Order: sequence, then structure tokens, then C-alpha cells
Amino acid sequence: MSEGNIIEIHNLKKNYDKGSIKALNGIDLEIKKGEFISIMGPSGSGKSTLLNMIGALDRAEEGSIKVADIDLMKETDLSEFRSQEIGFVFQMHNLIPNLTVLENVEIPMYESNLNSEQMRERALELLEAVGLREKAETNPTKLSGGERQRVAIARALVNHPSIILADEPTGALDSKTGDVILKLLKDLHSKEKVTLVMVTHEPYVAKMADRILNVLDGKIKSSS
Ligand SMILES: Nc1ncnc2c1ncn2[C@@H]1O[C@H](COP(=O)(O)OP(=O)(O)OP(=O)(O)O)[C@@H](O)[C@H]1O
Ligand SMILES: [Mg+2]
Repeated sequence: MSEGNIIEIHNLKKNYDKGSIKALNGIDLEIKKGEFISIMGPSGSGKSTLLNMIGALDRAEEGSIKVADIDLMKETDLSEFRSQEIGFVFQMHNLIPNLTVLENVEIPMYESNLNSEQMRERALELLEAVGLREKAETNPTKLSGGERQRVAIARALVNHPSIILADEPTGALDSKTGDVILKLLKDLHSKEKVTLVMVTHEPYVAKMADRILNVLDGKIKSSS
């Protein structure tokens, strides 16, 4: 990989339904370590598919994709890559309802070699960072939408990922709550020097990034 890049993608193609859907149709993209990138584009253009490829949630058919020095087309055990390098924040936070807030944040650490005291300490540190330490023992069903999304962000950061992938992180929130979440992501980006790749439909949100990518029909149409 070139010096300074954390993501390098060349001519990446991903099909669904035996090739009848070309979700990604030749993506070329390089992202520098610590960059904040927004991805925009119409519904169905391939934005989530692209994030899923970067996070190794799924595999592409063709092209090359290297993330944090790992060749995702060749690597066979991707679960370690995912848990160490990637933090996911989705539109729907998918917290586990019958665990406490604290336990939800601890989940990604189960595969680490931290003991339960260290896990608890790290989870509380992140809950503090997102302003929810006092909710640690609460059930997520008792939280507001914005609070749930803050828990999801704490969970995404708990393993010190090098990349945060956020797929419409404010899509399910009202604009005021959404702004709180965005400010939090942006602060974390500048403080922790994490690379942030965020899909959004909102132009004013996209403008907060260092660079905006426009995706159309599975390709990057423009970058600004
Ligand atoms: N698991 C799947 N099986 C079959 N087709 C899929 C699957 N996931 C996505 N697709 C198709 O691939 C294309 C790209 O989908 P994708 O979810 O990446 O779009 P998107 O840009 O994220 O859209 P939105 O803004 O609506 O979230 C669409 O045509 C979609 O229907
Ligand atoms: Mg999507």
C-alpha cells in the first residue's frame, strides 16, 4: 500500500443475484489514514455495499481491496481484522435489548484477551466519552434514539479501531439529535485520529468531511 493510505480499492466489483445486479461496478478509491470521507448518492447506488466491502462483511468478485495492510480478497480469517480494525455504526443501532448498556459496549471485547475488569473499565471510559456513563446499568430499550446511537458509537470505538464505518448514523434521528451524534463523531475523529467513512443523504452533513464521494450505479462519479 502507498505511504499514508489506509484503504486502497481498485476496479472493485460486487454482484448480487448471479450477476444480474451490479451493486459495485468498478470502484477506484484511496483513503488516507485519518481522513474523514462522506459518501453520497441515490438509493440503490451501492453505498452500503461499499462500506460492507471495506469492513469485510462480504466479499467482492473482482478487483482489489486492501484495508490497513490486509488484502481482503486473499485473507481467509477476516473476523480478527473486523474486530481489531473496524468500528461499525449503522442507521439502526442494533443493540441487544436484554443486555445492559454496559454489556452492549463490552461485546466487541469478548474476543480480546482483556479480563472482565479491564473490559468494564474500557466500556465505562467510552460511555463517559459519549456522555452516558450514568446509564451503564440501564436497558437500551429505556433510552432515546440519540442515546442508543451514542451507545452504538461507544461500542464501535471500544477496540480502538483504525476505521469507523458509519452508514447513515443519523438517518433514524430527528435533526437536533442527529446533530449531537454528528458532533460526537467529528470530535472523536479529530481527537482519536481515526479514519471516518460516513454515508449520508444530507448535503450539510456531507460537507463536514474532508472529501465527499458521489456514488452512482456502483461507481464513484465524482469526488470533491
Ligand atoms: N444482499 C443483497 N442481495 C441482493 N441484492 C442486494 C443486496 N444488497 C444490496 N443489493 C442491491 O445492490 C444494489 C446496491 O445496494 P446498496 O444497499 O449498496 O445501496 P445504497 O446506496 O446503500 O442504497 P440506500 O441509500 O437505499 O441505502 C441495490 O440494487 C440493491 O438492491
Ligand atoms: Mg444503504
